[in-house]
Amino acid sequence: MSRHNRPAVGEAPLLDVRGLKKYFPARSRSFFSKEKRTVKAVDGVDLSIGRGETVGLVGESGCGKSTLGRTIVRLYEPTEGEIMFSGKAAPDRRKMQMIFQDPYASLNPRMTVGDIISEPMVIHGIGTRSERMNRVHDLLRQVGMNPDHAMRYPHEFSGGQRQRIGIARALSAEPEFMVCDEPISALDVSIQAQVVNILEDLRDLYGLTYLFIAHDLSMIRHISDRVGVMYLGRIVEIAPTEELYGNPEHPYTKALFSSIPRIGRQKEGEGERRITLKGDVPSPIDPPSGCAFRTRCPHAEKLCADRVPALADRGAGHYVACRLCGSQSPPP
Ligand SMILES: Nc1ncnc2c1ncn2[C@@H]1O[C@H](COP(=O)(O)OP(=O)(O)O)[C@@H](O)[C@H]1O
Ligand SMILES: [Mg+2]
Repeated sequence: MSRHNRPAVGEAPLLDVRGLKKYFPARSRSFFSKEKRTVKAVDGVDLSIGRGETVGLVGESGCGKSTLGRTIVRLYEPTEGEIMFSGKAAPDRRKMQMIFQDPYASLNPRMTVGDIISEPMVIHGIGTRSERMNRVHDLLRQVGMNPDHAMRYPHEFSGGQRQRIGIARALSAEPEFMVCDEPISALDVSIQAQVVNILEDLRDLYGLTYLFIAHDLSMIRHISDRVGVMYLGRIVEIAPTEELYGNPEHPYTKALFSSIPRIGRQKEGEGERRITLKGDVPSPIDPPSGCAFRTRCPHAEKLCADRVPALADRGAGHYVACRLCGSQSPPP
């Protein structure tokens, strides 16, 4: 995928996240319980995203993808860690926006589409009333809708149209960075590709940078420059898209990818069987010590319980957090 807006070599990243943690107080199981428990939804994430880059984020439900996205755009205050945006630690809310999974829940039903889309401009004091109206009409056209739709209400529209409205709203304050959190998961399959195409076109038009969260591994492959794999609050593997899909190394990535045909299998003759993921992701209230994946990993050894494996550089921008990967051949 060649695009005009790829980050130049050596350019500082637009987004630089270091040691990010987001913990929530857990609802206690018993009303009388005094025990304070913590959900470690995001538990030590390092992530840099270059200007104009799209980074895909995959992983089973409950791994912390949404929490990571929401914390980066500061819908949540980080528990610990650093989020640098454009070289600054202070959040610039106008420049970071979010597209939500549920286009029904994310739009205020009592506001007109025009007011919904122009609200970020009002909040950030952008333009006069008529300038904002013109911008609303332009944005509606850019997401493939009719400017007349500005007068109507969300309930008059389909899920796909509501997601287009959500995209127009996110773009109205001219952000540089957007978290797209499963933006097509709630939509009919027949219109998913249209919404992805709109997000791609707008990315190229405005030179946007995306963190793109999705379940659909083929779509993630299509849209992303790099892809990160998340497991229980951490990124366990990250690499340029074709490198990751052609040469996944972490046992969790291999297991995830083995659900799609022809991806994640070893070259013929290497004899590795397809790995299937058994059971659920363990609770982030009490995650396994060391490598959190060890309780489901077919290769796990004693040493995996000792300490959390760091993301190690494998060259070609490929990082893997596994103490066994590469250091030994997989069992027959
Ligand atoms: N506001 C919250 N309060 C308490 N726990 C939460 C909250 N949001 C998410 N969690 C928990 O954090 C974990 C990660 O959730 P989430 O970020 O939604 O994962 P994903 O998007 O990968 O499915 C889950 O165990 C979820 O139940
Ligand atoms: Mg989510």
